[in-house]
Amino acid sequence: MGFCVSVGRILRKGKCFVLVLLCLSVLAWIANFSGEIAKSIQVSFNMTQIPVKADTLRDHLTKHASTPPLKVKCPQTSPLLKGAVKLSFEPSLTLKDVENDNKGVTEGKYAPTDCTARQSVAILIPHRNREKHLLYLLHHLHPFLQRQQIHYGIYVIQQAGDTTFNRAKLLNVGYLEALKEYSWECFILHDVDLVPENDHNLYVCDKQPKHLVVGRNVTGYKLRYKGYFGGVTAMTQKQFDKVNGFSNSYWGWGGEDDDLRIRVQLQKMTIVRPPADIARYTMVFHKRDSGNEANKDRMQLLRQTQQVWRKDGLNSCSYKTLSIERLPLYVNVTVDIGKP
Ligand SMILES: *[C@@H]1O[C@H](CO)[C@@H](O)[C@H](O)[C@H]1NC(C)=O
Ligand SMILES: *[C@@H]1O[C@H](CO)[C@@H](O)[C@H](O)[C@H]1NC(C)=O
Ligand SMILES: *[C@@H]1O[C@H](CO)[C@@H](O)[C@H](O)[C@H]1NC(C)=O
Repeated sequence: MGFCVSVGRILRKGKCFVLVLLCLSVLAWIANFSGEIAKSIQVSFNMTQIPVKADTLRDHLTKHASTPPLKVKCPQTSPLLKGAVKLSFEPSLTLKDVENDNKGVTEGKYAPTDCTARQSVAILIPHRNREKHLLYLLHHLHPFLQRQQIHYGIYVIQQAGDTTFNRAKLLNVGYLEALKEYSWECFILHDVDLVPENDHNLYVCDKQPKHLVVGRNVTGYKLRYKGYFGGVTAMTQKQFDKVNGFSNSYWGWGGEDDDLRIRVQLQKMTIVRPPADIARYTMVFHKRDSGNEANKDRMQLLRQTQQVWRKDGLNSCSYKTLSIERLPLYVNVTVDIGKP
């Protein structure tokens, strides 16, 4: 303004009005220009905003790269395996102790945290009145399976009532019920009184049905007999389905495992076993339970397997589920499987 006034003084008063107008328009132009400057500042600010955003994105990506959303597959041989371990059967052991030792297990299920397991495996344990044996088995099996880096779930199938025990039918029920929870690809059919001694005896399935109990301490670690297929057996969902599971007709002790072997052989599958120095078990001592007396009809039944396997098995397994309890270390499926 001072500029305009002094120019006005120099020029005559009349022309000053025009000059003032000129000055005002100059000022208006400056104001407009400063608006442009402000705008361009904002542009450059916006421009700097973009690299900042890119930085945070990069930060985000690097953060997630250190905990990758896509885990690597677990190695073929777990680095956590210990080989033969000394088993303990402490009379004072409680379920609470075993729960405290296995905090990573929920509802009987576990998956390795730093790699993706090679197989998802359901362990099926038929049960009645063997709480102490079950406790010892859970105590050893959970850490054993975790060292093998397996994604697994443990199902205890509890026969309700006190009619004769039917191991095979309970395993059929376990298979059907476990598949309702998750599409397990491999099943371990597991007696409650057998504890594995060596964690190189892998609880995963093979291209052929696998029998895991080559030796037990009670029989000098010798195979019970050629063709023995009982105790602990691993079959894929496909393999078990192909043989229509177990027969439901074996009430009482014995025969059902031989029947399963015949079914496997009828399907032209072969039985594989791990090396004898690895496939070793300790059998927890017990007397034959009442309600599980030797099945006198088993020889007769075994002669019929070839004729009846198609209609006696998974496809004819009728039962009533009484309860499903999801406990910390196992799922307890209690069933009424009827009577002989
Ligand atoms: C700068 O960013 C602001 C807020 O996102 C937006 O309102 C403005 O229009 C942008 N300016 C330019 C020049 O892009
Ligand atoms: C097998 O091991 C169990 C548990 O240690 C023991 O009770 C049993 O007596 C052993 N049997 C033989 C024959 O060694
Ligand atoms: C399973 O549940 C039934 C019914 O509640 C119960 O009687 C049985 O003791 C349970 N078994 C185990 C092993 O938890």
